[in-house]
Amino acid sequence: MKRAKIAGTGSYVPENVVTNDDLAKRFTTSDEWIQERSGIRERRYFTPGKDTVAGMGVQAARIAIERAGIEVEDIDFIIFATLNPDYMFPGSAVLVQRELGLNAKAVPSLDIRTQCTGFIYGLSIAEQFIKTGQYKNILLIGSEIHSSGLDFSDAGRDVTVLFGDGAGAAIIQPSEDENKGILTTHLHADGEHAERLAVLAPSGSKPRHLTHEMIDDRSIYPVMNGRYVFKFAVEKFPEVIHEALQATGYKPEDIDMLIPHQANLRISEAVRKIMGLPEEKVHNNIQRYGNTTAASIPIALHEAIEMGKIKEGDLVCLAAFGSGFTWGSALIRW
Ligand code: ACO
Repeated sequence: MKRAKIAGTGSYVPENVVTNDDLAKRFTTSDEWIQERSGIRERRYFTPGKDTVAGMGVQAARIAIERAGIEVEDIDFIIFATLNPDYMFPGSAVLVQRELGLNAKAVPSLDIRTQCTGFIYGLSIAEQFIKTGQYKNILLIGSEIHSSGLDFSDAGRDVTVLFGDGAGAAIIQPSEDENKGILTTHLHADGEHAERLAVLAPSGSKPRHLTHEMIDDRSIYPVMNGRYVFKFAVEKFPEVIHEALQATGYKPEDIDMLIPHQANLRISEAVRKIMGLPEEKVHNNIQRYGNTTAASIPIALHEAIEMGKIKEGDLVCLAAFGSGFTWGSALIRW
């Protein structure tokens, strides 16, 4: 069985920059409060009529395809991770497939719903298909438009300040060098905490899936028990990173670069300290993009590669925690 590798990455963020001061004009908050609690200075919001969840994914995908040195026609499987798809159904993977012109070849297109851990789950799924030899060029996308679904009133300010829009993509291929590529992936979930970080409406299980009452009582907006999420995240990130290290016989000090899901700079910092890693071995960009959920790891990974922070032969760790709760890690010899 061949090992899988990330052959190319790409990202796209909308051009509209929204600062903390911009948010403070819409509800009661301040730049100081947001930076102190989350590290976020600004985030991007999509332009309606220009950006779509699938379309932003396509923009990121085109860069990943180019960096991998393949043609669009080479893609034989699409995996799309988002928590806010273009439609209730179908998923956004088929929209990407159509926009790339891959519908002519009926390329299979899969949507996954594991929120902040979407990219890691997608990477692990792609890895399995590469290992079995079923597919050779898998396009994995994480793309999110949060800003259309946030509560811009004081009631939702704790959540709203954290999230931003953006997309990231990767091409997963078989590795020619058996010592390089994805060494291990680890996935977990605990549905006990499902409603601790969630959007509860529209709901397929209500008499009508969307009602005026749901809008009036704000159940169409995300709810988050911030302190509860924080506590779990700080515990599960290190746990799942250690799991990947143990599976491969490496130690924390062997990690050359850790790309954590960009949930909150305080979470990333706490994880870095628990793992005993120096600042230069953890790449964060939440300060500029906010939390972009499934897109945050591929955006940060692509940025770190473009900045020359990841070099051939480096040991790279990806790790995520989020709604579900779900969490996971991947260890990659670059
Ligand atoms: N601006 C100003 N004040 C605010 C805001 C805001 N945006 N939001 C809440 N407040 C107020 C609250 O109303 C509260 O006021 P009170 O003391 O008068 O009642 C006060 O600030 C403190 O509120 P807390 O919720 O206790 O603030 P806390 O210090 O816990 O910080 C935060 C909130 C930032 C959400 C924190 O709990 C956190 O970082 N949690 C982790 C969650 C996270 O990072 N989620 C990311 C998404 S999930 C993921 O990707 C893993």
